[in-house]
Parts: sequence; structure tokens; C-alpha cells
Amino acid sequence: MTADHRRAAVLCGIGTWLPPRVVTNDDLAQQLDTSDEWIRSRTGIRERRVIDPGTSTSDLAVEAGARALKSAGGGNVDLVIVATTTPDHPCPSTAPEVASRLGLTGVPAFDLNAVCAGFVYSLATAVGHIVAGIASRVLVIGADTFTTVLNPHDRTTVAIFGDGAGAVVLRAGTADEPGALGPFDLGSDGTNAELLIVPAGGSRQRGSGQPLDPADVHFRMDGQPVFRNAVTRMSESAAKVLAQAGWRIEDVDRFACHQANARILTAVARTLEVPEERVVMNVDRVGNTVAASIPLVLADAAAAGDIVPGHRVLITSFGAGLGWGSTVITWPDIDLG
Ligand code: ACO
Repeated sequence: MTADHRRAAVLCGIGTWLPPRVVTNDDLAQQLDTSDEWIRSRTGIRERRVIDPGTSTSDLAVEAGARALKSAGGGNVDLVIVATTTPDHPCPSTAPEVASRLGLTGVPAFDLNAVCAGFVYSLATAVGHIVAGIASRVLVIGADTFTTVLNPHDRTTVAIFGDGAGAVVLRAGTADEPGALGPFDLGSDGTNAELLIVPAGGSRQRGSGQPLDPADVHFRMDGQPVFRNAVTRMSESAAKVLAQAGWRIEDVDRFACHQANARILTAVARTLEVPEERVVMNVDRVGNTVAASIPLVLADAAAAGDIVPGHRVLITSFGAGLGWGSTVITWPDIDLG
């Protein structure tokens, strides 16, 4: 096989951060009409992390970003992207503050909101900047404090989501190097926006001239159609990206699927015919951490020695929007901190 010297974006650092407070299913069962048995059997989740008062998304993003930069051997970056749906403020975006707190004042920085698909969309955006020569080293952070938009009395959503952050550094390199990201498959379907929505807080509600209904500030989810869409969209997208990459399903050493629900992961793996032991999973310990989900599960699996250098990893994600995205990477030999 001939070497492929095309310019590419190569993963060279990874870091994560979880808020220290653990909330178990039994803790939830003390406040809500639910049980550890129900949550574990329907979602695979045992516990999740939740921020304490006074903590916000940028705090998690800075911690994960600092660890990713350290893992990449320090040095500067020339772009910062923060994938988040729970920014510190509706305006301005969170990324400039995160960049400044990391000592990167002056570096271009913006937020990208594609909900649970936000990290894969951000990777694709960073790859585009690097391949086009606009940037040569990019910090991509997925950070969400999704518990801040949940209705604390809604057992269907409180059981599922947790807070967290994960980050990677991408550098310019060549397509034949381990760690080179891509190809990508990205997609969206706005006709199903109502399935996962926070109705208030944006221009639709603010410009309506109607008084605010307090219930509309919380996230709403229609669980069963979301489940079906998640399985279909992630399976189709993952199959497309494999075809683009020229990989067969047997070539996939590890499958990193958005950690929404263990049953969704199992169903996607079954549809694609990926053996169960190749599916990486941490949803039991962190729940659905939205934009942080993919970097958190990759870092956890790498730290546990379940993903090792040379492994061919298939990544797929899905979330509100609807939006979805997939990519592939051959895992590089990086410092895991
Ligand atoms: N504890 C106890 N009972 C519950 C709970 C709970 N935590 N949550 C729901 N129930 C009840 C429901 O109220 C319902 O009761 P009813 O029959 O009296 O009405 C019953 O359990 C069954 O509810 P279903 O919705 O049929 O349960 P299902 O097996 O579909 O599981 C779940 C619900 C876990 C939400 C599932 O539909 C799911 O995982 N959907 C996908 C969710 C998801 O991944 N969302 C994130 C997408 S990412 C993003 O972009 C934000």
C-alpha cells in the first residue's frame, strides 16, 4: 500500500473532567417515583455526576481543556471550539472565556451547538480548519451541564442525563498517520425538532409576545421515537462512514457510540453486527453527558487499556435537532495523563 501524505488532522492529546458529586439511582429514588431497578434495566445507568451550585459549563470545559493540552505536550493552539448546548450565557459564547482561562487570549474561539452530536460536528469543523490551512493545532472541547435544563420532577429525563466535559487536541499531520481523523458523515432532520426540545429561552418564545410558561424552560423528550431515531440514524451514519473509509465491519476493533442508553448502544451494535465485546461503554457511570459523551468514553476506554494504539475505532453520535455524525480513527500512541 502506498503512503498517503495528504494533509490531515491528527489526534495528539485527550483530557476529561467530571464534577465530583455522584448521584446514584437510589439517590434519585428518594426524590422521584423511580427505582434503581427501573433505571438500570431501561437505560443501563447506575449513577451520574452533577455539578454543585456555583459551577458552570466553562468550569468543566477549562479543566478538561487543560488536561488535553497537557496530554498533547503543552504548547499553543490556534483555534478553540467548545461544543455545548448549555453555555454559561445565551450571549456571549462560552469558548472565548474558556480560551482566556487556559491562557489562550487572542486565539479564535467559538461555541458549536449540535447537542449530543456536537463533539463529532466540532471534530469535523476542526479537521476542516486544519486541512484548509486556516489552523494547525486545535483544541476541541465537549462540555455540558445538561442537568441545569432538566425539570427536577421529570423522572424520564433526570434519570438519563449527567454533567461532564472531555477534550482533544488535533494537530496538522498526514492522512497515513495513526490518529488521523476522518472521513466524516454528518446529517440533520429539523422536522423532528420537537422530540427533544427546551421550548423557552430563545427568540421563538421571547419574540412571541406571550407570557413565559415556566414549564417551557425545561428540556422535554419524547423517549420512544427518540430511541427509534437514535438506532436508525446512528446505524445508517456509521455504515456510511465505514464505506467511505473502506473499512469492513470486521476491521472495527472498538465502537464508540454516543452514550445515550445501554439499550440504544446494544441495538446499534446489533444492527451493524459489531460484536458486543467491541462496544466501549461508560454510560453506567456517567449517564448521557451530551457533547462530552464521545471524548469521555474514548478517554475512559483508553485509560482502562480497552482501546490501545493501533485499534481502529468507529465513532457515532446522535442527538436533538435531530442531528447525527460519525467518523473513524486509528488510535494513536498518546499520553493519557
Ligand atoms: N422511573 C420509573 N418509571 C419511569 C421512568 C423512571 N425514571 N421514566 C419513565 N417511566 C415510566 C413512564 O412514565 C411510563 O409509565 P406509564 O406506562 O405509566 O406511562 C413507563 O415508565 C414506560 O415508559 P416508556 O417511555 O415506554 O419507557 P421506555 O422503555 O421507552 O424507556 C427511556 C424510556 C429510557 C426514556 C427510553 O425511551 C429512551 O432511552 N429513549 C431515548 C432517550 C435518549 O437517548 N435521549 C437522549 C437523546 S440525546 C440528546 O440530544 C439530548
